[in-house]
Amino acid sequence: MSSLTDRFHQPLPSWIEEIKGEVRDKISKAEFVALCHKGDITVIESLARGLWPFIDEFPRIINRGCLRLCKPQLFHKFGFVKMLSLLRHSYEALAEIESDEEQHRKLWLDIGEALGLIYPCHYNQPILPVVKAWIRGVDKPSDPFTMFLRFTSIEMIAEAVSKGLLTSDNFTSVLRKRGCHWFRVHVAHHTGMTHEELALRLAFAFHEREPVKETCNQAIQEVVDLLISAANACCNLAASRANSSPKHRRLSKEKPAVGETRSLS
Ligand SMILES: [Fe+2]
Repeated sequence: MSSLTDRFHQPLPSWIEEIKGEVRDKISKAEFVALCHKGDITVIESLARGLWPFIDEFPRIINRGCLRLCKPQLFHKFGFVKMLSLLRHSYEALAEIESDEEQHRKLWLDIGEALGLIYPCHYNQPILPVVKAWIRGVDKPSDPFTMFLRFTSIEMIAEAVSKGLLTSDNFTSVLRKRGCHWFRVHVAHHTGMTHEELALRLAFAFHEREPVKETCNQAIQEVVDLLISAANACCNLAASRANSSPKHRRLSKEKPAVGETRSLS
């Protein structure tokens, strides 16, 4: 059996692209994507606010994941030398991902700013149960293989959503250049390994057997399904807000909801 670090450097299985295809396909058919494509400002605003708790928490989820790798059981299971080597890879990768996600967190607030939202007052709202479920689904303690697959899923989701929405002129004209930055960074790949690849390689390095497509796909799609449920719930919230009285359509006493003051050019 190859060592853990050998596994890290092995080529990725070709079926990863099939899994990514399934992620792209599911997301492209989701209701929230269709509404964003139409440039529905109320929906985009509801997504920016409603999904924020996950975006806000994700760097801390990564940090907790990093700390969870320091378990005596893992040293016992894999052996001290191999585990130390893999911990080094993991810490380097997770520190890089966490730092980038901190930046992406700030870029997310630029989406809201393009819509006239002010941080933190417009983000202080009850967290939707499905958004909580999405956070829990990624954060729940698990073996390192599953944890890294969940992080991989987030990277795949961010890329699929960004690629899909940046093709819509309606969507990009609502958010303009600054508000689209979050989406642009998730489709731009620089030299070296992407976060998706790093997380996948770490998942496989921690796996004791040859990775099986079905097992990987299940862990990845579970997170995709949670995101789609959370995002679609934000759409429903937008619809119920739009149908409510003008009083309830106010984001705050001082500021009207953006959907009331801005229209698509
Ligand atoms: Fe990100």
